[in-house]
Order: sequence, then structure tokens, then C-alpha cells
Amino acid sequence: MSGDHRLQIAVLISGSGTNLQAIIDAVDAGTLTVEIIAVISDRPDALGLDRAKRANIPVIAINYADYAERNSYDARLDSELKKLAPDLIVLAGYMRIIADATVNAFPGQMINVHPSLLPAYPGLNTYKRALASKEQHHGTTVHFVIPELDAGPSIIQYRVKIATNETEQTLRERVQLGEYLIYPQAIQWFAENRLAFENGQVVKDGQICAAPKIIDAHE
Ligand code: GAR
Repeated sequence: MSGDHRLQIAVLISGSGTNLQAIIDAVDAGTLTVEIIAVISDRPDALGLDRAKRANIPVIAINYADYAERNSYDARLDSELKKLAPDLIVLAGYMRIIADATVNAFPGQMINVHPSLLPAYPGLNTYKRALASKEQHHGTTVHFVIPELDAGPSIIQYRVKIATNETEQTLRERVQLGEYLIYPQAIQWFAENRLAFENGQVVKDGQICAAPKIIDAHE
């Protein structure tokens, strides 16, 4: 972005918000030059909302349980996002599927972090499934969001080697450390106009990326 106008982002969470915290910390450190205009949660008890409040970021809690049907919840989320009109929507541990119409209303302006090396293991329980399949590696992916779940093109991945004595817990901890690096990085590329989603593909520094950048954990 040029001049003083910072990229405005809205962060969607459902839980503890450690990725949100990494984003807040990167903004405070000056390595991420964006303005977090709102944090939205589908759960009013999400711990991440407290992190946002501590950082003086406006919060919007839309309690999914208050809505009789998914459509009415989706409509409320859609309307909140359109009112905010962020430059980028950042899904950070947001555990609901965003309605197609909402995804399509923000073309190339919605990114997600998913705990697997996509296209491997879309969906839930990625750590358990990777361990059960005796994978050698696991990791996490930042990708653009398209209506199909966890299927948008990948921007950057963090990869860890699975240890012989690995548990779900140790693997999650190691993978999440990587999320705290690659998610602020991807957002900063977007803020610097170095990253875009064009014709279904990731474009980074003017080049179409057929594959994501892969960062290997130092271990
Ligand atoms: C993150 O590790 C993220 O990869 C995962 O939820 C966690 C949220 O942690 N996201 C998904 O599973 C999305 N399908 P956090 O609330 O502490 O950032």
C-alpha cells in the first residue's frame, strides 16, 4: 500500500487465537504493516477475543448457537464483513465453512491457515490422520480461500519431519510454531502488493507460483 494507508484486515477466529496473537505481535514489532480493524468469532467465549480486547482491537462475537439455521448465521457474517469492507480477510483457526456467496464477494481477499501440507489432509483431525498414515512429514499451509473446503491454491507451507516418538500434541506444537512465522509473512506479502490471486493461481512478485514456498523446520 502507498502512503499512510495500511492494509486493513479482519481476522476470524473460533478458539484460542494464538495465530491472532502472532499477527498482533508482528504488527507491534513493525514487521507486519497492517491495521487489524476487527476480530470476529463465532463463539463468544473464544479466548482469542480477550487477546483482541487487550490489543484494543474491536471485536464482533456472532454466537453461532443463537442462530436457528446456518443460513441466518451466514447472512449475519456476510453483512458484518461487508460493513467492515476489509482489504483482506484472515481466517485464523476459524472452524466454520464460509458460505460460497461470502467467499465470492471477496475474490482473492480471503486467506486461511490449515494444519496440513495441502492438498494432503483437508478437513479435520489432520495430526491424527498424518500420524496414523505413518507420514514422514506434516506441516501447515497458508492458502487462498475458494468455496471448496481447503482447496484454494497454497501460498506458503511450513514442513516438519515427524519424529519416531511423535504424539498429536508434540506435532501440533511444532507445526503451530511454524504458523506463527508463515502467516504474518504471507499477510505482509499481501500488504506489500507482492501477493495476489489471479485466475485461480497464486501470483508472487509478478510470477505465477505452481507450488507454494516451503519452509523446513530447523531441527
Ligand atoms: C491453528 O493451528 C490452525 O491451523 C487450525 O486451528 C488452529 C487454531 O489455533 N485451523 C484449522 O484447523 C482450520 N481448518 P489458534 O486459535 O490458537 O490460532
